[in-house]
Amino acid sequence: MAGVILQRMIVLENISKSFDGGNRFSVENVSLRVPRGKLLVPLGGSGCGKTTTLKMINRLIDPTSGRVLVNGQDVRDSDPVQLRRGIGYVFQGSGLFPHMTVAENIAVVPKLLRWPKERIRAHVEELLELVNLPAEQYRDRLPQQLSGGQQQRVGFARALATGPEVMLLDEPFGALDPVTRDELRAEFVSLRQRLGLTAVMVTHDMLEALLAADLIAVMNAGRLVQLGTPYELMTHPADAFVAALIASPKHQMEKLQAMTAANGT
Ligand SMILES: Nc1ncnc2c1ncn2[C@@H]1O[C@H](COP(=O)(O)OP(=O)(O)OP(=O)(O)O)[C@@H](O)[C@H]1O
Ligand SMILES: [Mg+2]
Repeated sequence: MAGVILQRMIVLENISKSFDGGNRFSVENVSLRVPRGKLLVPLGGSGCGKTTTLKMINRLIDPTSGRVLVNGQDVRDSDPVQLRRGIGYVFQGSGLFPHMTVAENIAVVPKLLRWPKERIRAHVEELLELVNLPAEQYRDRLPQQLSGGQQQRVGFARALATGPEVMLLDEPFGALDPVTRDELRAEFVSLRQRLGLTAVMVTHDMLEALLAADLIAVMNAGRLVQLGTPYELMTHPADAFVAALIASPKHQMEKLQAMTAANGT
């Protein structure tokens, strides 16, 4: 039994969140499990509760009711600071401190943990390498001296600074042009697999979810509408809402395939 629980790295049990004492619920009775090493993508329109759900995993928000387990442990029993050391967080927008250099941004938590200066310096270099930003070129820049894609890379590096097993990402590619977005998504998918990270990555881009996710959690008005693999959602949408959501990229792909086939014959 313990083995089974450990395989589920993140477990949400009937979590609900009301910000107004129970009149309205931003998240209502959501239950789901993310197996170790897998990527779950909560997907849905603006205001459906994606960010709130994400923040209940690392206790940036505490649920009104329900339970969250990370690595088999109820997060309410862990010290929030300790908990967040094991959980990298990439904020909606880049969330970098504008007055700090790239190196200082990445080093925020290691500094809090009082790592020796030399260890921090070496680790920042490694992390910048990992996200494909040459340290000597970028280390001392301010966020405003970086492109959106480069800022997002620094956001990844910062989230990876304490060697977490879990990553939470809130629309990490939201503000990027489509080419940069594709490139960064592919890099993130490979980085995640290489590091064996369990991750929850919010998006409202259906195609992005289909391309990157092991599991998709479709949300609507705070409720979980369907949880399944991209294939399951495409072949067996639970209701008209999910069907409509996947229809758009599916139609686009069908059109592309038809075009390719027509030109190939
Ligand atoms: N701190 C808060 N106080 C009051 N209401 C909040 C708070 N945070 C979120 N909400 C409300 O909860 C609902 C869900 O918000 P949430 O940020 O989770 O949505 P989202 O799915 O991430 O949307 P988006 O795609 O626009 O980022 C919204 O109606 C929002 O106004
Ligand atoms: Mg959000």
